[in-house]
Amino acid sequence: MESLTLRASPSSTASPPLRLPGRRRAASVRVSASGAGEPDLSVTVNGLKMPNPFVIGSGPPGTNYTVMKRAFDEGWGGVIAKTVSLDAGKVINVTPRYARLRADPNGSTKSPIIGWQNIELISDRPLETMLNEFKQLKKEYPDRILIGSIMEEYNKAAWHELIERVEESGVDALEINFSCPHGMPERKMGAAVGQDCALLEEVSGWINEKATVPVWSKMTPNITDITQPSRIALKSGSEGIAAINTIMSVMGIDLKTLRPEPCVEGYSTPGGYSARAVHPIALAKVMQIARLIKEEFPEGRSLSAIGGVETGNDAAEFILLGADTVQVCTGVMMHGYGLVKKLCTELQDFMRMHDFTSIEDFRGASLPYFTTHTDLVQRQKEAIKQRKAIRMGLQSDKDWTGDGFVKETESMVSN
Ligand SMILES: Cc1cc2nc3c(=O)[nH]c(=O)nc-3n(C[C@H](O)[C@H](O)[C@H](O)COP(=O)(O)O)c2cc1C
Repeated sequence: MESLTLRASPSSTASPPLRLPGRRRAASVRVSASGAGEPDLSVTVNGLKMPNPFVIGSGPPGTNYTVMKRAFDEGWGGVIAKTVSLDAGKVINVTPRYARLRADPNGSTKSPIIGWQNIELISDRPLETMLNEFKQLKKEYPDRILIGSIMEEYNKAAWHELIERVEESGVDALEINFSCPHGMPERKMGAAVGQDCALLEEVSGWINEKATVPVWSKMTPNITDITQPSRIALKSGSEGIAAINTIMSVMGIDLKTLRPEPCVEGYSTPGGYSARAVHPIALAKVMQIARLIKEEFPEGRSLSAIGGVETGNDAAEFILLGADTVQVCTGVMMHGYGLVKKLCTELQDFMRMHDFTSIEDFRGASLPYFTTHTDLVQRQKEAIKQRKAIRMGLQSDKDWTGDGFVKETESMVSN
């Protein structure tokens, strides 16, 4: 196992506490004004303290001062800003750049939106402007967690300059965008790095030798085995993994014009798919990364789960797999910043149902129940054998069990 120096966040003086392997039942019921105990949603991840695990995912909901301030005011646990690079002048967006999939196969506008495609690039705002806004936000909300999302070309000096300048703005951590599926790979950025393990190892090395705040590497799902690049990012010193970014998609073809969508001057390009439709895929990827962390990084690394979260139950699923925080991007674009209140209430309802008092009470609790298909077959064979044995009566006195004793007795009675 590689040794790793965990970086302290600027807001913490002591070393960031490592996550304890296994679960810990904390006596952390908060007492509300009415005196009733409320499940505690607060989390501490890589030394960063958040009032709840809900974090704005990088994208339009974290694109400027006004909207990030709104997120803090509404109560989001943290904000990850829209991805920035050194030269925003190279980032040129098109419109329309979003397309939506509705549940109704005929696309009735009354039916719910289940899928969202975008061909949006990273931030097209000047870096200096974004950095001044980060500074202002940290001044106004010193106790709130602001994370800078960054991406650069395949150039060590450029990455180092970007890291230095973004850190100077006072952000609490960095999320590295190794995963933007469109536009940026053409410049050897984003998913071009996240999909190439050799490139990723080199670039991750540059990043982790420079960064002095915690680093979360954001991975692309557009790869056969997400654990391979995740392992490399963690071995290179990243404190955590964030997953998933959007899934490569073509939203559809207009059957009247025969042109693909979203259609820009008659043409389109594959984009990134998000929202509810990607949630099951995100769960599978997060499960794989959680197992990787548990099995190969027992000293603990953090996991920020993303993909199709619109309810507290969606978030509970990610946490049950081992996520420390849960990011929401498209959900905010559809429902607004007030969504966080509903997410918190629903997550607390879930916790109450199981008598969980803290997030740590159930984080990772469902992870041990994933196994191989071969093992499922074996388990089923065993279960059928036992059920048959009970029906047919016991073959030998050694087969009596304590739990099934009454049923076993019944199975051998003739009337
Ligand atoms: C319009 C749009 C723009 C996005 N821009 C970024 C970005 O700049 N950087 C990034 O890391 N992820 C970006 N994402 C990806 C999201 O952060 C998130 O990983 C993905 O959409 C899945 O989560 P969701 O279903 O909650 O949206 C963007 C997503 C959307 C929909």
